[in-house]
Amino acid sequence: MKNKIQKPKREKVILQQETDEDKILNLSLRPTKIADFVGQKKTIENLLISLQAAKERREPLEHMLFAGPPGLGKTTIAHIIAHEMDSKITATSGPAIERAGDLIGILTNLEKGDVLFIDEVHRLSKVVEEFLYPAMENFQIDFVIDKGPYAKTIKFNLKHFTLIGATTRSGLLSAPLRGRFGMFFHLDFYRPEDLVKIINRSVKILNIKIDKEGAMEIARRSRGTPRVANRLLRRVRDFSQVKKSGAITKEIADEALNSQGIDSFGLDTIDRKVLFAIIDYYKGGPVGIESLAASLNEESDTIVDVVEPFLLKSGFLKRTPRGRKITDLAYQHLKKTREKQKELF
Ligand SMILES: Nc1ncnc2c1ncn2[C@@H]1O[C@H](COP(=O)(O)OP(=O)(O)OP(=O)(O)O)[C@@H](O)[C@H]1O
Ligand SMILES: [Mg+2]
Repeated sequence: MKNKIQKPKREKVILQQETDEDKILNLSLRPTKIADFVGQKKTIENLLISLQAAKERREPLEHMLFAGPPGLGKTTIAHIIAHEMDSKITATSGPAIERAGDLIGILTNLEKGDVLFIDEVHRLSKVVEEFLYPAMENFQIDFVIDKGPYAKTIKFNLKHFTLIGATTRSGLLSAPLRGRFGMFFHLDFYRPEDLVKIINRSVKILNIKIDKEGAMEIARRSRGTPRVANRLLRRVRDFSQVKKSGAITKEIADEALNSQGIDSFGLDTIDRKVLFAIIDYYKGGPVGIESLAASLNEESDTIVDVVEPFLLKSGFLKRTPRGRKITDLAYQHLKKTREKQKELF
């Protein structure tokens, strides 16, 4: 019974991260050249300079760290960088590396200039992290062979590789690890105009018919996130194929997104659930993240990583020293549509 209650929630949460459907379609929708990467102007400008400088000096790039909420393009950029530098990329993730030994094979196989991409780099274990320090700093690793009195430490020289780390929580990165990255980039939510460009690119690849207002409507409701934009586009396309015919218009997008529980501001069921919980149980806050997570029966990490960044950015939620607080804007937004939204739970 318990599982039955939890299931929809889990699915919803996973939805904001990468689904299997995303994975398959991402291969075709993910830009591979820097010229196709939309938005994030400052980051791209700085990146282009570093790429050009490294190319001219025929040197590998410095280690880089990309931080930002899920679905904004961290993995995409890592692949683009490897592509632009004409180098091989090996991708892994923090939780996947259980022991330092798991890294030896990966590191010793890297050639000069190769990219090692570590997703969720804030979730590396302490031991693995410490094993990485000399690899990042001096391109050397120490490994111990034998045990007890015969134990010997052998130094192994690595080729000059580039580590690209991605994290949704740069605050959780230890200072020594953070300090070993030469460059640090923070990805921001995208403007609707940029999301329209991303949608139009996907529309061409997927061969979908959509008009200008239709694309704008999807963009406006995509939580500033390319992954969400691509996903909503697919949902609207399904809806339009089954219920209507012809190009996707604003009206069709509107109807399809409403039926998916996405409101006019792009908030989805879980966003509203978080806001309503603070209003209903905590009189608008402030409330600590752990209590909030407990009343929603969610992981606090999920709220902090996935839900909260957009609510903070769009001014529905405020962070105070005593916890999260609802803003007037959220009140207005929810009150206006509250009766309707309640049915969606
Ligand atoms: N700037 C962009 N231009 C075009 N498409 C983009 C852009 N950024 C992201 N995308 C699209 O959004 C999808 C999600 O991006 P990506 O997987 O790189 O996000 P992420 O930041 O790594 O997310 P996570 O933190 O969940 O790993 C990509 O597959 C791509 O199709
Ligand atoms: Mg990623």
